[in-house]
Amino acid sequence: MGFSSWIQERLPISGDSLKELTNEPVPNHLKHWWFCIGGTPAYLFIVQIITGIMLAMYYKAAPETAYESVAYITNEANYGWFIRSMHKWSGTLMIAAMVLHQMRVFFTGAYRKPRELNWIVGMLLLIVTLLTGFTGYSLVFEQLSYWGATVGANISDNVPVIGSFLKNMLLAGDTYNANTLSRFFVLHAAVFPVSIILLLVAHLSMVRVQGVTEYKFKGEENDEKTHFNFFPDHLLTELGIGLFLMVLISSLAVALPAEMGAVANPLATPEVIKPEWFFYVAFRWLKLFTGSTAVITQGLVIAVMMAWPFIDGAVRRRRPNSEFSVWVGVLAVLAIIGLTVWEAAVAH
Ligand code: HEM
Repeated sequence: MGFSSWIQERLPISGDSLKELTNEPVPNHLKHWWFCIGGTPAYLFIVQIITGIMLAMYYKAAPETAYESVAYITNEANYGWFIRSMHKWSGTLMIAAMVLHQMRVFFTGAYRKPRELNWIVGMLLLIVTLLTGFTGYSLVFEQLSYWGATVGANISDNVPVIGSFLKNMLLAGDTYNANTLSRFFVLHAAVFPVSIILLLVAHLSMVRVQGVTEYKFKGEENDEKTHFNFFPDHLLTELGIGLFLMVLISSLAVALPAEMGAVANPLATPEVIKPEWFFYVAFRWLKLFTGSTAVITQGLVIAVMMAWPFIDGAVRRRRPNSEFSVWVGVLAVLAIIGLTVWEAAVAH
């Protein structure tokens, strides 16, 4: 008896039925790469998990040991600098790819009925991924990690009603203390990644159930063949993208490796406190408005983004051909770029 029939007797899943299950016909427009960009954050997330597990084997989450353990990874552990740099770069690219994917979904109106709920799941994915970035940045226990975490906690303190509770939950106490780093580590390495996995399962199941939105480009209106096979055609595209990303992250890790800043000093506030680039928008906003106003308006922006499919639906019911959403999208992109460049360009 061959090995495959031995397995078949115990797990009666045939290759053909597996093929049928995965072989969703994919609309032709997915041959354009920007329609496939949703697969990119998923791929980078897998890189994050693998490199993250490797880093966790050496990282020691406590104020006395954290910086030293990251320095050990960077300077002494075999290929530690490379793994750490890959982790950092794929995290950065994951956020960039998510934003590009969200923009693609927005500007092609792919969030509209029946995909409103999947847009909301996508928004949750964005928020949890940003929180994962924030907690990761804080783990190194450099000056900027420490003060970034402190500023983040003070911002959550400004949330009306539940502010002090949030700050307390984040810092494991009223102020940064001996337990703060291990809390950040558990959030960064367990709670948030598991949440991302659960959200991704929901996200991709909805994509599978609803199919992707179908589009036709000029010149394709009369094409007889409107779909192609997921397996192997689309899978090969995704593998190609994966290979390109691997080369890109490795090159970035070698050319611009993750470095070590000065060790955290709770008694000396640095002259310039900057978060990671993906928080520049929020940080500039905080400087433009004060305390609670900044936090409440940011909360409102997130609420509007979450509810966008319904707001857009209400507008389109009144004016079916309105280009309202496109203009809002263009303004939002300009605001994001403007605030990011502004924050990057100035020292304070
Ligand atoms: C970890 C992050 C994410 C991953 C891995 C992911 C993955 C995917 C994939 C693979 C698709 C199939 C089509 C494509 O490749 O574009 C898709 C579709 C979709 N995604 Fe995401 N996504 C993520 C985040 C988001 C975010 C932040 C949003 C928006 C707030 C979003 C909203 C949607 C919607 C509405 C669709 C359906 C698009 C259509 O029907 O054409 N996703 N996602």
